[in-house]
Amino acid sequence: MSQFDLNAFISSHKADEAQKIIHSALEQFDNIAISFSGAEDVVLIDMAVKAKKDVSVFSLDTGRLHPETYRFIETVRKHYNINIDIMSPDAAKLEAFTQEKGLFSFFDDGHKECCGIRKVAPLRRKLNTLNAWITGQRKDQSHGTRNELAFAEADAAFSNEERTLYKFNPLAEWSSEDVWNYIKMFDVPFNELHQKGYISIGCEPCTRPVLPNQHEREGRWWWEESEHKECGLHIGNIIPTKQG
Ligand code: ADX
Ligand code: SF4
Repeated sequence: MSQFDLNAFISSHKADEAQKIIHSALEQFDNIAISFSGAEDVVLIDMAVKAKKDVSVFSLDTGRLHPETYRFIETVRKHYNINIDIMSPDAAKLEAFTQEKGLFSFFDDGHKECCGIRKVAPLRRKLNTLNAWITGQRKDQSHGTRNELAFAEADAAFSNEERTLYKFNPLAEWSSEDVWNYIKMFDVPFNELHQKGYISIGCEPCTRPVLPNQHEREGRWWWEESEHKECGLHIGNIIPTKQG
């Protein structure tokens, strides 16, 4: 018997599970889309296109992503021959905000307002057109906020009285190592920032590489002390009455 690789074996079975979750979610909902950040969550797209050719994918273009991330989004679009719906912030709101507060107000008064305009409002606009969405969140990304993450849930933040929005997190049980095993195993393209010490990737001014043994989340909004670092996309993770 050739040498048994326990980690690759475990990872490939987790890949089976995640693939099944994606497959079933795509089967159950016509009106479902993958939320792609331009980072390791590319594995969702790889799995989805293996299940179904015409998958819907969207990215929130905050206007502040790294050039590497913009290039990567384009690479992914061409590599998988898919459309990626690029969501932009509301121009009037963004102009009013930057005129009043400049381009780096988040360093002075926190990231909530900027994330609200650049990420959360465009996300809400997109989610209002969907019945379900798929994210690349994992439990191991944040012990403070994602420990309880379910692979399928009712979205506590973006559902309303008229309708329940469903949210799938097929990689919930995956570790970062599982993600990278998958990327290597299936020759998946990845953001070149990962070769420069970045693990968790968000906007350029609010993301930095981490040192050995630092948790990946410490590279995000590092000037803020809170253990509950969520920008609002997944605020349901810290709503106490979370369903699902
Ligand atoms: S964040 O809330 O802190 O910014 P994180 O970077 O951990 O989120 O990414 C978790 C998941 O949120 C991603 O796998 C993706 O599904 C979604 N996401 C984050 N940023 C974006 C983005 N700019 N565009 C689309 N989806 C995103
Ligand atoms: Fe603004 Fe930073 Fe939030 Fe990006 S991560 S929307 S630049 S505060």
